[in-house]
Amino acid sequence: NTRVTVATLRERKETKTPITMLTAYDYTMASLLDCAKIDMILVGDSLGNVILGYDSTIPVTVEDMIHHGRAVCRGAQYSMVVIDMPFMSYQISAEDAVSNAGRIMKETQAQAVKLEGGIEILAAVKKILAAGIPVIGHLGLTPQSVNQLGGYKVQGKDQMAAQKLMDDAKALAQAGVSAIVLECVPAKLAGTITAAISVPTIGIGAGNACDGQVLVVNDMIGLSSGFSPKFVHKFTDMNTLVLTAVADYKQHVTSRQFPAEQHTFKISDEIIGKLY
Ligand code: KIV
Ligand code: NA
Repeated sequence: NTRVTVATLRERKETKTPITMLTAYDYTMASLLDCAKIDMILVGDSLGNVILGYDSTIPVTVEDMIHHGRAVCRGAQYSMVVIDMPFMSYQISAEDAVSNAGRIMKETQAQAVKLEGGIEILAAVKKILAAGIPVIGHLGLTPQSVNQLGGYKVQGKDQMAAQKLMDDAKALAQAGVSAIVLECVPAKLAGTITAAISVPTIGIGAGNACDGQVLVVNDMIGLSSGFSPKFVHKFTDMNTLVLTAVADYKQHVTSRQFPAEQHTFKISDEIIGKLY
């Protein structure tokens, strides 16, 4: 058994070996990321935007996360699978939070859950950890709070907000989370937080000093419609590849070039001749 575990994450921080994390929402993509030995696969609630066509993560349900989480887990043998707890599945009470986290772990066989927030959700984090479930934190731009944040923008820029991020990161680390995602945070602040805690930080739009990096896989392969944030690097352009292939398919079908001889099944002329 060579799967990446919470112990691997700790060791990566100690040896300063960057942790690689990408999202996936289905079996095929999970199999590819697993084959490439990506350390962590996140079944992000970005599922709502990327796969389900919502304009935020707020409508995503526990059932959605379990449905896609199960598919991802079937494709991952090496990578550690982390599943996002969706909006309102952990904010109501610590009891409700551990019950939902337990359902997600039981029904998907994932290795950890991720929750957005710091000191506000500490009771829920502690209760989930006490049940033996590894937790990944998520601070900075927390998309489930988009309506309170007033949009998707950089967080922690003034003294008070920067201090709150530091306090939240320390509180989560102290509680025993296995890693903390820092989203859309100034690079120097992310670096200072990373140096201040013993738990690995995983950045997205948070600079190069974090202990690891995460991106939405559709963003980094250019397979997405619409807006791409400043922190994304497109490592390939799947939109163009798919559009070219689909146009080619259409041309081959309408011109009857496809299917060709090698794609077809044979039958004897004798049988055809006796048909009436
Ligand atoms: O849902 C998601 O994809 C995430 C990552 C961007 C960290 O939470
Ligand atoms: Na998320």
